[in-house]
Amino acid sequence: MPATLITNIAILAGVREQTNLLRGAAMAELPVIEDAFILMEDGTIAEYGAMYELELKLPQLPKHIIDAAGQIVLPTWCDSHTHLVFAKSREEEFVDKIKGATYAEIAAKGGGILNSAGKLNNATEDELFSSAWERLQEVSKMGTGAIEIKSGYGLTVEGELKMLRVIKRLKEKSNLSIKSTFLGAHTYPAAYKENHPAYIDCIINEMLPVIGKEKLADYIDVFCETGFFSPEEMETICKAVMQYGLKPKLHINQLNSIGGLQSAVKLNALSADHLETMSEDDIAALSVSNTIGTLLPTAAFFLRMQYQPARKLIDSNCAIALATDYNPGSSPGGNMNFVVALSCIQMKMLPEEAINAATINGAFAMELQNEAGSISIGKKANLIFTKPIPSIAYLPYSFSHNCIDKVMINGQFI
Ligand code: NIG
Ligand code: FE
Repeated sequence: MPATLITNIAILAGVREQTNLLRGAAMAELPVIEDAFILMEDGTIAEYGAMYELELKLPQLPKHIIDAAGQIVLPTWCDSHTHLVFAKSREEEFVDKIKGATYAEIAAKGGGILNSAGKLNNATEDELFSSAWERLQEVSKMGTGAIEIKSGYGLTVEGELKMLRVIKRLKEKSNLSIKSTFLGAHTYPAAYKENHPAYIDCIINEMLPVIGKEKLADYIDVFCETGFFSPEEMETICKAVMQYGLKPKLHINQLNSIGGLQSAVKLNALSADHLETMSEDDIAALSVSNTIGTLLPTAAFFLRMQYQPARKLIDSNCAIALATDYNPGSSPGGNMNFVVALSCIQMKMLPEEAINAATINGAFAMELQNEAGSISIGKKANLIFTKPIPSIAYLPYSFSHNCIDKVMINGQFI
């Protein structure tokens, strides 16, 4: 691939020589270069700097030069929590909720996750692949360059493996960076409602050996929640998985604070995700841990729940990532631009904090920090080019506008 030089970038944002996980006050530091250039070679970032340094840094200019006059360039979004593979939408439950039903009531009646599981088990692997592929194309056009995708709508050996094989095919075909998470412990299937140990046994002794052998997952997830999996059940599953090298990335404290956060920290989870319901003790435990708190504000928005206490978490020195939770039940969309805007508007995150949480910290929450999440030499040339806009803060401010002009993945515009 010939080298490409982009010149006259109004603001090049997220420029980092060193890649560190950001926590607390450091989350507000978004390093930028004004009036900048960036050089791409073989799909990766080869050089960058201020326009006045161009001659010095690049004595010989490449043939292919693009003028980005007035545009802001930033790293593509790192969406570290999605359920992108699913069979059908669930707008009927959306209407039930408008009429007054709660998330827990819908789940108790066999709706919710079980509704999606029924539909998924009736779909073929090819059908699931083709709808997930469409969604992947859609989110990449909205600026997502790295994404985590979970299973969890199978809940049978066959269904879970089918989902994970779809994710494996997405990894093979797509040029986005993709991580795969096994979420067999999303809910108890109806047949195991009264026999939790038998389903946990199925996860550990039937699903996991195949997942391990075929290398179908990078991470293990459990929905730790009242009426779903208890902290003790989550610990049993996560400990059994360690032999396969799958680190935990967990659904924690969405509806209730039941000790899941403490268990996640004890398990040295890569991330604890959701966190709508956080006690003072939970916040304190997260702040002194290595676990990244991944906030999913569009799920709170869609379910009309309290938002995650982002301000308190950051001010307590936690490391925070932002993700879409793209799924048919609680967040039917994968627009990271809206996640960033909502985080500023409703959770009082600063634009810089939200962008960092949605890029570099999201990369860390998928262990992709060496290839994604910042403008750094050697990382993938995965870039968002905005339309001419006046400032970085304009991105979340103009929340209902599409500020993206073009997206580049591996040095090529999509
Ligand atoms: O992250 N809370 C658990 N899982 C999903 C929603 C699943 C569903 O409703 O289908 C979530 O919000
Ligand atoms: Fe989720």
